Amino acid sequence: MRKPVVMGNWKLNGTKATVTDLIKAFSQSANNAANVDVAICAPAIFIGMVETLAAGSQLKYGSEDVDVHTSGAFTGENSPVMIKEFGATYAIVGHSERRGYHNETNEVVAAKFKAAQDNGLVPVLCIGESEAEYDAGKTVEVCNAEIKAVIDLCGIDAFKNAVIAYEPIWAIGTGKTATPDVAQNVHKQIRDYLKTFSAEVADGVRILYGGSCNAKTAPELFSQPDIDGGLIGGASLKVADFNAIIDAAKANA
Ligand code: 13P
Repeated sequence: MRKPVVMGNWKLNGTKATVTDLIKAFSQSANNAANVDVAICAPAIFIGMVETLAAGSQLKYGSEDVDVHTSGAFTGENSPVMIKEFGATYAIVGHSERRGYHNETNEVVAAKFKAAQDNGLVPVLCIGESEAEYDAGKTVEVCNAEIKAVIDLCGIDAFKNAVIAYEPIWAIGTGKTATPDVAQNVHKQIRDYLKTFSAEVADGVRILYGGSCNAKTAPELFSQPDIDGGLIGGASLKVADFNAIIDAAKANA
């Protein structure tokens, strides 16, 4: 049985005041959700605050990206060692906004995955197709290539301590959630692909759905057999909405 994960991705949002309110609220939510991993990935500048505010609670947290280097002359980057020092558990890698706006290739994302894992963070590998790729029936091909780059660099066993997030780009921030059937079908194909390398790894890895996942859509999405929770953008900035999504995961844990 895979333990569900409900993870917020705040993207470039937050103030000291909102971070304080949200982390206080979600620390309580996490304490009341023993059978669900509740986490927030925050802008790096707030991670120190999150550490203090979440102290003593079950809330886990992480970064939205990570550099491939641990230190040195890399102006503006955030090292996995630094992120880990602030008590983080997770590091998102390969979000489509990073792939798109920062030209991160599958190989760069794989290197970030490795850097995160080598330094004690659990990588959350984001994969997913564009609308044009979806229309062309290339969803599985795109997702498999994004996964294969990581397997090539790190080996299949790296997914024993990692999370995958399937986020169709056309569903992110658009209100166009993939239907539970469409999402389940892709999740199953991702797991089937992993199975060709290792059945054990495929069965154990948690695959989250992301893309306009909200209080209304989460219950049916999370009831699908291969959907192990969600990576939540907009709704993770609203206490009631994120709590409702956590409740949906609890009901399916
Ligand atoms: P939204 O939930 O706002 O669509 O964002 C999804 C996402 O990109 C999470 O990483």
